[in-house]
Amino acid sequence: VMANQSSISEFFLRGISELPEQEQLLFGIFLCMYLVTLTGNLLIILAIGSDAHLHTPMYFFLANLSFVDVGLTSSTVTKALVNAQTRHRTISYSGCLTQMYFFLMFGDLDSFFLAVMAYDRYVAICCPLHYSTIMSPRVCVLLLALCWVLTNIVALTHTLLTARLSFCVVGEIAHFFCDIAPILKLSCSSTRINELMVFVLGGTVLVVPFVCILVSYVHIIWAILRVRTPGGGGKAFSTCSSHLCVVCVFYGTLFSTYLCPPSVASEEKNMAAAAMYTVVTPMLNPFIYSLRNKDLKAALERLFSHRRLSSW
Ligand SMILES: *[C@@H]1O[C@H](CO)[C@@H](O)[C@H](O)[C@H]1NC(C)=O
Repeated sequence: VMANQSSISEFFLRGISELPEQEQLLFGIFLCMYLVTLTGNLLIILAIGSDAHLHTPMYFFLANLSFVDVGLTSSTVTKALVNAQTRHRTISYSGCLTQMYFFLMFGDLDSFFLAVMAYDRYVAICCPLHYSTIMSPRVCVLLLALCWVLTNIVALTHTLLTARLSFCVVGEIAHFFCDIAPILKLSCSSTRINELMVFVLGGTVLVVPFVCILVSYVHIIWAILRVRTPGGGGKAFSTCSSHLCVVCVFYGTLFSTYLCPPSVASEEKNMAAAAMYTVVTPMLNPFIYSLRNKDLKAALERLFSHRRLSSW
């Protein structure tokens, strides 16, 4: 067993760019987007936590999604930012596996939470009279716990399977963080089982929540079309249009990455796509929600006026 252990202690990480001048520009852009993501999502969590009007399942799930978005960007871009600034190219072996674990966990949680939020909107619109009994605090916590347990099992499976591999030379991970596929390419042992699990688990983790979302929205749209009163359907739909926007951005970037045929410049394309769902999507979520949602806007305004008053 010991002979199978990896013999290397670190990897090279390609980083955000190989060209120094382009790297400085991208460093600035990534840093700005990271700071905006942190601020936006933490404000959402603060606004929801501090406003009793927003202590409903929908906003609790949104706060949880913001937390996961912060985790997803932090786990992927911080190391790339540090490496770009210090001009280091390395990441330790254990650091790499840890990063992979957190990236997988938060990335999968994002997709699971979007499904839970779609189910929440389905119950609110299709069974409004039973909403408070179906979406009781106990059920909400159970749903969230289920998401955490499942995503941790998936992330742990990939990480343990990767830890079994041997790496004969200190190779370069052709990415700005430790994603599974670029690590597998560097291994000198057979990666058949790893690739199979990436295909099976990766497919499940993306497709199952996506189907849940699709089914929820078919029911929602069906229910809204049956509402005869003019304006009634529009009001019901406005509560889930923000969510639908976020779903489209998230799955749009994912599917455009994985369903496109591999081209010559596939490494650059993979990195650009990864930047989309690790940096851009988490940054957009707070804007999509707060710009379209009056209650959340009011809570944010109250948060700021309260802070101003208490600092006097
Ligand atoms: C996530 O949701 C739970 C229950 O719905 C809530 O108690 C918790 O505060 C939420 N987490 C965050 C970070 O807001």
